[in-house]
Amino acid sequence: MKKISFTLNGERRQVHVSPNEILLEVLRYKMGVKSPKSGCDSGDCGACTVILDGKAVRSCLIFAVEVDGQEILTLEGLSADGLSPLQQALLEKNAFQCGYCAPGMILSAHELLSNKPHPTEGEIKEAISGNLCRCTGYQPIIDAIKSLTQKR
Ligand code: FES
Ligand code: FES
Repeated sequence: MKKISFTLNGERRQVHVSPNEILLEVLRYKMGVKSPKSGCDSGDCGACTVILDGKAVRSCLIFAVEVDGQEILTLEGLSADGLSPLQQALLEKNAFQCGYCAPGMILSAHELLSNKPHPTEGEIKEAISGNLCRCTGYQPIIDAIKSLTQKR
């Protein structure tokens, strides 16, 4: 086991991990962070997305030891002070149904909007293209992100 430390949602945290432990499992089962979901465990669905040093990544494809010294943001951190404007826009458009894809989808959109406050529809589609949603057909999600960019 190795002790790693990293910043999780603004707080310095430490945890003991074995070399083959996956970040998604460590977040969910050792650190109580439940927003990243297990969907495919093979990098295909985006349900496990977190923001690692500013970039949306799939936590099912990363060994926990790799994040030593880095910074992770999950949905818990994004909404620590209440719903973010992005979440509010998604809520207003009823953009989700079951919500299983929502944390990953929101974090991918958050990364886009952090780097590009006024993206085109094509850029929005590209940004969330790795996040699968089996319920909505995507358009309400795209509309919500677009509506937010128009308010800025
Ligand atoms: S669970 Fe990680 S991409 Fe599907
Ligand atoms: S709302 Fe159900 S998977 Fe997206």
